Amino acid sequence: MYTLGIETSCDETAAAVLRDDTVLSNIVSSQIDIHKKYGGVVPELASREHLKNLMPVIRESLSSASVFLKDIDLIAVTYTPGLIGALLVGVSAAKAMAYAQNIPFIGVHHGEGHILAAHIEYPGIGYPYVALLVSGGHTALYHVKGLGEYRMLGQTRDDAAGEAYDKVAKLLGLEYPGGPVLDLLSQEGNPSAIKFPRGYLEGFDFSFSGLKTAVRNHVALFMSKDKGIDPKLNIRDVAASFQEAVVETLVDKTMLAASETGVDKIVVAGGVAANSFLRKRMSEEAAHRGITLYLPGMGLCIDNAAMIALAGYLHFKRGETSRLDLNPRPTMPL
Ligand code: KG4
Ligand code: ZN
Repeated sequence: MYTLGIETSCDETAAAVLRDDTVLSNIVSSQIDIHKKYGGVVPELASREHLKNLMPVIRESLSSASVFLKDIDLIAVTYTPGLIGALLVGVSAAKAMAYAQNIPFIGVHHGEGHILAAHIEYPGIGYPYVALLVSGGHTALYHVKGLGEYRMLGQTRDDAAGEAYDKVAKLLGLEYPGGPVLDLLSQEGNPSAIKFPRGYLEGFDFSFSGLKTAVRNHVALFMSKDKGIDPKLNIRDVAASFQEAVVETLVDKTMLAASETGVDKIVVAGGVAANSFLRKRMSEEAAHRGITLYLPGMGLCIDNAAMIALAGYLHFKRGETSRLDLNPRPTMPL
């Protein structure tokens, strides 16, 4: 069977086609260049861009999969969480197409899509596992016992890890999104140059706002009103030291979650899972403990519609569908 997946929750307009659980096409049109000049995503602009780009992106996903809309058996769409105007574009299009084609439609939780992205690359993965979901909107650890069985072990009490990356980049005068830029800069910096605090909370919760404030205070030492940032500030060292603090907490808590739940498999998902240092440290720690690590490739870590299509397809196979009066929701726990 063919599933068309649609994703418009934030600043990526995406569509994908799956034959059963195999990805035939995965098209992503990023709006980053539009939002860059504002230093972050402007919700109203995001909705308008989705409106403009969604049908061309869907058409491209169909043509590069060599299928026609009439071949599609199921439409899966992200309906939560995300920017409400942005979600509305995808959900309305999905409903209209499903109604017109007289085929089922299913709403997918974006976070579930990120976690299940690992199943695209590793179809035999099996349950249970611990999943670390790290993106611009989420930082949470789950004990995943099966499809739809996500027990949250802990989450961030303030900023998401990706949000911390974006905010730190902004205060260093770097462009949005901050994650990839800081990732690159860190490779030339000294991670032990500045000892930034680690937000170790009880259990499996995270906190990144104290770290962000510490970076701001450090940068402030090199700032003057008239001259701006002093060139003596080594932003590569700041980036590497910040990254070291983020990655250390993410890796430690994830390993702790695996040992406390007694599972020997870890999935890392979401945009921040594209981070080279996080990938390296997770791989080292997992290997050291005899844990199998499932890290989807970069294209499946950042927002995409293949993961949404797969989540929809798996739920559909269990007999689930959504009604056409399903409304998008800006927030919703997984
Ligand atoms: O999953 P995603 O594409 O969108 C959300 O659902 O939020 O994640 C976007 C986030 C942004 O905060 C971005 O800065 C971060 O992922 N990100 C990274 C990297 N690539 C993207 N963070 C750290 N290192 C990266 N290489
Ligand atoms: Zn995402």
